[in-house]
Amino acid sequence: MDRYLVFGHPVRHSKSPFIHTLFARQTQQELEYGLAEPAVDEFAQALRTFFDQGGKGCNVTVPFKEQAFTLVDRLSLRAKRAGAVNTIKLTDDGVLLGDNTDGAGLVADLKSHGVTLADSRILLLGAGGAARGALAPLLAELPSELVIANRTHTKAQQLAAEFHDLGPVTAQAYEQLAGPFDLVINSTSASLQGELPPLAPALIHTDIAIYDMMYGASDTAFICWAKQHGARQTMDGLGMLVEQAAEAFTVWRGIRPGTKQVLRELKRNLGVI
Ligand code: ATR
Repeated sequence: MDRYLVFGHPVRHSKSPFIHTLFARQTQQELEYGLAEPAVDEFAQALRTFFDQGGKGCNVTVPFKEQAFTLVDRLSLRAKRAGAVNTIKLTDDGVLLGDNTDGAGLVADLKSHGVTLADSRILLLGAGGAARGALAPLLAELPSELVIANRTHTKAQQLAAEFHDLGPVTAQAYEQLAGPFDLVINSTSASLQGELPPLAPALIHTDIAIYDMMYGASDTAFICWAKQHGARQTMDGLGMLVEQAAEAFTVWRGIRPGTKQVLRELKRNLGVI
C-alpha cells in the first residue's frame, strides 16, 4: 500500500492522519498515512530513510519546513516563494519534489467562507514563516492593498520588499496603521501564549473579516478580542488545515478530495461541535 506520513516535532497531536485517512476513504484511494517525530537533528536522515523504504510522499510541519526546503531535489514556484516546504512528493522519475500548500489552503478557506479578496484591503499581522507562505497566494487574488504589520517592524519591511514585484504590498508599524481594512489575517504565534498582537481596537468594525491561522477547541485570544470589539465574521485556522491537506492530497494523488464533510468530522473529533 502507498505510504505517506507527516514529519514534525512534536507531532503526536497532528490531525493530518485523521484528515488524509478521510480523504482516502472518500476518493477510494488505497494508502496509509502515519506520523514521524525524528529528533530535531535527525530529520534529514529520517526523510531519506522514509523514501528509501518506498514512501510516496510526506507532509512536513514545525520545526522542519525550512530544512525540508534545502533537502528536496526540486521546488515548486510557490515553495520557492514561501521559503519552506510542507509537502514532498516522490515523482515517477524518482525526483523529490518540494511544494508548499499552506498559502493555497488559506486562500481556499477564505473563499469557502465567502470572503472577497479582489480589490480588498488586507492587513496581515506577523512576518514569520506563516506570513511568508501566505503572501504570494494572497497577492495573486489581486487585493487593492496588502499591509504587513509586525512587532519587529524591520522584518515586515524586508518581507514587503521581497514580495513587492507581486503586488501592492507595504509594511506599516502597528501604531501607524490606518483603516479601514476589509480583512485582518493573524499569522503571528501570539495566540499560542494567549497573547494579542498590539492592534488598535478602533481598526475593528462590524463589516471586517477576521482570520486567525491558529485554532483551538475554543476561540483563540485574537478572535475573542476581535468579537469583543464588534467583529461579526471571525474564522480560525482549522479550515486552512483541511484545505492545505486537500491541496497536498491533490499533488500526491491527482484527485481533489472534498473538504466540507471532513472539516465537519474534524470539528466533531476536536469537540468543537
Ligand atoms: P511562524 O513560522 O509560525 O510564522 P515565526 O517565524 O516564529 O513563526 O514567527 C512568529 C511571528 O509571530 C513573528 O512575526 C512574531 O513577531 P516578531 O517578528 O516580532 O518576533 C510574531 N509574534 C509572536 N508573538 C507575538 C506577540 N506576542 N505579539 C505580536 N507578534 C508576535
